[in-house]
Amino acid sequence: MNIGIVGTGYVGLVTGVCLSAIGHTVYCVDNDREKIKKLRRGIATIYEPGLQELMTKQTKKKKLFFCETIKEAAKCSQVIFIAVGTPSKKNGDADLTYVENVARQIALSMDSYKLIVEKSTVPAETGKRIEHTIKLNLPKKFNGRNRSLSFDVASNPEFLREGSAIADFMNPDRVVIGVESKKAEELLKEIYKPLKTRVIVTNITSAEIIKHASNSFLATKISFANALSQICDRVGADILKVTEGMGYDKRIGPSFLNAGIGFGGSCFPKDVDAFIRLSEKSGYEFNLLKAVRTTNEEQKAAFIRLIEDKLWIIKGKTIGVLGLAFKPNTDDMRNAPSVDIIERLQAEGAKIKAYDPQAMENAKKVFKGMTFCNDMYGAAKGSDCLLVLTEWDEFRKVDFKKLRGVMRQPVVFDGRNLYKNDNLVELGFEYFGIGRGKV
Ligand code: UDX
Ligand code: UDX
Repeated sequence: MNIGIVGTGYVGLVTGVCLSAIGHTVYCVDNDREKIKKLRRGIATIYEPGLQELMTKQTKKKKLFFCETIKEAAKCSQVIFIAVGTPSKKNGDADLTYVENVARQIALSMDSYKLIVEKSTVPAETGKRIEHTIKLNLPKKFNGRNRSLSFDVASNPEFLREGSAIADFMNPDRVVIGVESKKAEELLKEIYKPLKTRVIVTNITSAEIIKHASNSFLATKISFANALSQICDRVGADILKVTEGMGYDKRIGPSFLNAGIGFGGSCFPKDVDAFIRLSEKSGYEFNLLKAVRTTNEEQKAAFIRLIEDKLWIIKGKTIGVLGLAFKPNTDDMRNAPSVDIIERLQAEGAKIKAYDPQAMENAKKVFKGMTFCNDMYGAAKGSDCLLVLTEWDEFRKVDFKKLRGVMRQPVVFDGRNLYKNDNLVELGFEYFGIGRGKV
């Protein structure tokens, strides 16, 4: 099928490239001219393992195109995915300005039946809003005619994790489609048929809730593990053994129970906020989810307190940082825990030196007054302590003797328990992990 994708960010570009890889002809569009120019030159505008190669291949096969206007993309497509940003507003609401703007532009370019699909994570009932916006902006010739002849709206949330987005697209646990007509259901089933995966069919609002509820539950698991880590540190238990022991219970499962400095990224914080707000507006106080958010903030504060306690004086200290991105295998800095942690230490007078394998470009737009280093030893050189904030594989291959040699004080605060099995104490370091029962 011919498919349009509006928005070529982490969600849109991966979705477009992968839909084309499973056999469709895809027209991607973005209102950021620079992005479209780079994409047309064959350059992927985000880092995602395997994306550049797959994008090059699909472009060569003339199954993937980049357009400047929605009109252009809509003209060639029967199904159009909306994958533009839905950032958080100050009060936690999802900002749907872009979504509304795109819905209107699609309506104005309508020249035949279209299926408009929400790919972006949006609060429940956004589908109804999109439908209303399109109806109000349909070209005259559609007016009066039976609406279903001209368009349908559907919800098809993504469950892509940054750093494994292509694998997550190609081997999904399930595809969720929220539809209000048989035609829309058929079209979406046709699109995903090559994946031969389980398809959950429901109405639009339920599909929207599935997305917010899934992300919120995953965030709840992480906050539960982080709260446990605080207890483990106080009673001398080991969080790694505690979560291992829990995880063998199939009802609990081992994943998303890694204690650390908390969850970041462009999804969990935003989706937890939006779900809390949506619940409030529907008349229900989602206190459990508010506690998940509070626990996440508290985990970063606890990490700072640990550093203050063990380092004694922060002012004037040189602190080396390994990892800035919100998780490994991505260049994405959105809501990365490293931002809060580094800014608080800088406010106390620390000098920060940092290295991240992929996120340096984006980090330079976020941090002020920080020294960016070319590798982990550069970040550790002359430091009074070293913080591990992102658990990149690259940091596992380390010569601890060399690391010890370049540091001014051999103190390591391991915010992601990366060196959980390396026994740094025997190697001459003072080592503090998360929830290892050592404080
Ligand atoms: C984000 C969130 O991460 C995701 O949870 C949500 O489902 C959708 O929004 P992401 O792809 O990460 O997805 O957003 P971003 O990287 O900001 O990409 C959005 C793209 O849409 C940008 O390239 C932006 O230029 C483009 N855009 C935005 C348009 O093309 N038109 C607009 O009107 C607004
Ligand atoms: C998430 C969801 O997993 C994905 O399904 C959804 O589509 C988008 O949001 P993403 O945000 O890309 O994906 O990354 P994820 O791997 O979920 O990690 C999110 C955050 O949680 C990261 O900051 C990560 O460091 C943190 N995390 C994850 C933990 O702290 N502990 C864990 O056990 C797992």
